[in-house]
Amino acid sequence: MEWNKPGIYTLPKIEDHRGNLTFAQTPDLIPFQINRVYWLYDVPADAERGGHAHRTNHEILIALAGSFSVELFDGFTRRRFTLNRPYQALYIPTGVWRTLDDFSSGSVCLVLASETYCDEEYIRDFDEFMQIATTNGQRQL
Ligand code: TYD
Repeated sequence: MEWNKPGIYTLPKIEDHRGNLTFAQTPDLIPFQINRVYWLYDVPADAERGGHAHRTNHEILIALAGSFSVELFDGFTRRRFTLNRPYQALYIPTGVWRTLDDFSSGSVCLVLASETYCDEEYIRDFDEFMQIATTNGQRQL
């Protein structure tokens, strides 16, 4: 698969009358080495997660259960995605501001990350993000 821009990519789905199976592996299905996995759950319907970008960390988001929405912003264009299938993977490279909301009851958001957790690697200040994004001038969406 060519993970050349932010967006939803379709992972393999092995259909079976005993239940379906989806998998992810490097390097052919995931564009980075996975160094961390975390998941969001018990998210209230009116809660908003994210609200930051990353300097070095790439992420892939998967709705393992239920659904939620993700708004991506590269400093120029906003795009909104809804994840509601366990075989859909939303790729978010570095330098993209993300906001997650509209979590359905019982939803689980699995995140595959390229880096271990590092607070300094986050861009949490929106003005700083805009300065980096516009100086860089790279349209990703
Ligand atoms: P944060 O990344 O801000 O959550 P989200 O983007 O999903 O809204 O992280 C929330 C808190 O959890 C913050 O204090 C850092 C901590 N945290 C870790 O310790 N390790 C991790 O891998 C992650 C993702 C967060």
